[in-house]
Amino acid sequence: MTISAWSPLRIGESQLEHRIVLAPLTRNRGTPSQLHKHTWVPNDLMLQYYEERATKGGLLITEATPVSLRASGVPGIPGLFTEEQQEGWKKIVDAVHQQGGVFFCQIWHQGRTTHSCLMDQIPHSSSDVALQGKFAWNDIPARPYEKPVPMSKDDIEATQNDFVQAAVNALSVGFDGIEVHAGNGYLFDQFHHSNINLRDDEYGRDIEGRSKFTLETVQKLCNAIGAGRVAVRLSPFGLFNETLGEERIPQWQYLCTQLGQMGLAYVHLIEPRFDEFKSASEKLAAFKNYNVEDLTLKHFKQALGSTPIMAAGGFGPDNFQEGLQSGAHDLMAFGRFFVANPDLVQKLRDQEPLYKWDRSRFYGPFPDNEVGYTVHPSRVFAASGDISKGQLA
Ligand code: FNR
Repeated sequence: MTISAWSPLRIGESQLEHRIVLAPLTRNRGTPSQLHKHTWVPNDLMLQYYEERATKGGLLITEATPVSLRASGVPGIPGLFTEEQQEGWKKIVDAVHQQGGVFFCQIWHQGRTTHSCLMDQIPHSSSDVALQGKFAWNDIPARPYEKPVPMSKDDIEATQNDFVQAAVNALSVGFDGIEVHAGNGYLFDQFHHSNINLRDDEYGRDIEGRSKFTLETVQKLCNAIGAGRVAVRLSPFGLFNETLGEERIPQWQYLCTQLGQMGLAYVHLIEPRFDEFKSASEKLAAFKNYNVEDLTLKHFKQALGSTPIMAAGGFGPDNFQEGLQSGAHDLMAFGRFFVANPDLVQKLRDQEPLYKWDRSRFYGPFPDNEVGYTVHPSRVFAASGDISKGQLA
């Protein structure tokens, strides 16, 4: 039988009717909490945004959702750690389920990529290696990133407990599962990369040590809510947030081999061609220095065994069926095209032209939050090749 985007798939405890997935997309459209400083709550605008993208048997992944105040990074992002946040998410989950959608919550910790001005605590990381450059967001003036606090073993355990609590909260408001954000240079990735993780205890030193925090956390999540409701996102070829570790294939093969034995709902891998700031050709060229001959996700397939693989990064109308038909992956997530086309699934099915995204409206908060989110005043059709330009295009 030929597999296509329209073939059903079982992922852990959930049954999908097609394989087009809403990628996790931070959009910063939450409402400031009146009860808790520095926290944001989901609102009706967000409900409309997710509801519009829900399809029968289609998987949606939420925007990255902080598991605690310390995990939080930029304004407008609702977490899942206060009661009012959970109440807000519950309404959104109900609306998505009403449309027949399957909904996973991406749970997140920014580690060193945030700033104490947003949570009144010095950020945590694997070691005390600060990001270069400056933190800035909308009207928050630019300021140097801080030297993070290297996490003690107690900090590691407390953070793992935050992830478990967030997952329990997610299930209690009705989410079908959670996806751990372990890519893009955020906290877990700050343990994976040897240029950031300088520890000489069992959470550092070598590939096994640098993988331990992630693997232990995922195992605790599986114990708490069942492996069939747990997924993990990894970016083996990421460079974002100064992730420059050189052992690309062995480090992520080890992670995938271990994750492949846990019975997870899926593992989500970002394609090597995608980068936040570079075009696909610039990104692939950047790997010349890394001694990786074959820049594909195939290195991880065998390691993952029968765990469903979701791929993301650079999919559009011209290339979304190939990887499914060849068996390279089982699902694919769309980011930028889903921003501009809430009805993406139907348009791909009917081969209708797709609108292009407006990069200037990706990340709020804005006084007119709905523009470029649920209202699209001036859309143009995408040209072929737009999707291979970096996210800044
Ligand atoms: C992202 N991406 C992202 N990734 C993630 O794991 N959590 C997140 O919250 C976000 N937020 C986010 C916001 C916006 C506006 C964009 C454009 C991207 C990355 C995203 O999930 C996806 O991997 C990339 O967009 C590549 O896919 P496309 O856009 O090429 O389909």
